[in-house]
Amino acid sequence: MANQGVTDPTHEPVNSGRRRFLTATTAVVGAVGAGFVAVPFIKSWNPSARAKLAGAPVTADISALAEGQRLVLEWRGQPIWIVKRSKAILQALPTLDNLLRDPKSTNLDQQPAYIKGELRSIKPEISVLVGLCTHLGCSPEMKAEIKPEPFDPAWKGGYFCPCHKSKFDMAGRVFQGVPAPTNLVVPPHYYENDTTIVVGVDPSNSQGAA
Ligand code: FES
Repeated sequence: MANQGVTDPTHEPVNSGRRRFLTATTAVVGAVGAGFVAVPFIKSWNPSARAKLAGAPVTADISALAEGQRLVLEWRGQPIWIVKRSKAILQALPTLDNLLRDPKSTNLDQQPAYIKGELRSIKPEISVLVGLCTHLGCSPEMKAEIKPEPFDPAWKGGYFCPCHKSKFDMAGRVFQGVPAPTNLVVPPHYYENDTTIVVGVDPSNSQGAA
């Protein structure tokens, strides 16, 4: 079993959006897939409760993650999304640049320095994001298919926050004209091997990771 519940190790004030996430997260943490279809072959393992309180890294096996699926983890009381993007999605991302606030990820508060460009990832196909809207902290819905949506007839896949209708693409880049001011956060992470991701540690510090 991946996580045994949710704690808030920072003891920071929890806003209403985040509280909604915390209420729902025991049901979704460790689940994977569009619509949260459980895939038993995906496994993740986590540190002890004490280490978790200290914000210890979280490790995930993504060997069974299929295109269009999402693995949801918890790190430091936040939902972490690991999503495998299709070639069609990767090709669509650069075409959206003119519609976005920060298409080149110049706001360095939203991702580590080694996460660059339109894809905002280490491996092109794998996106790792903190799943909290940068407006007021709701957890956006994944709408990964390229197809017209009620909120955007030219939708190329991404995340939609129903709280106040913010939109993000499949790299977590925020659209113009929505309440969310910045791109979704990319957490520090690195690949322990080809199919194992460690969230919470930069690649440069990976030797000292717990
Ligand atoms: S919290 Fe997402 S749009 Fe307001």
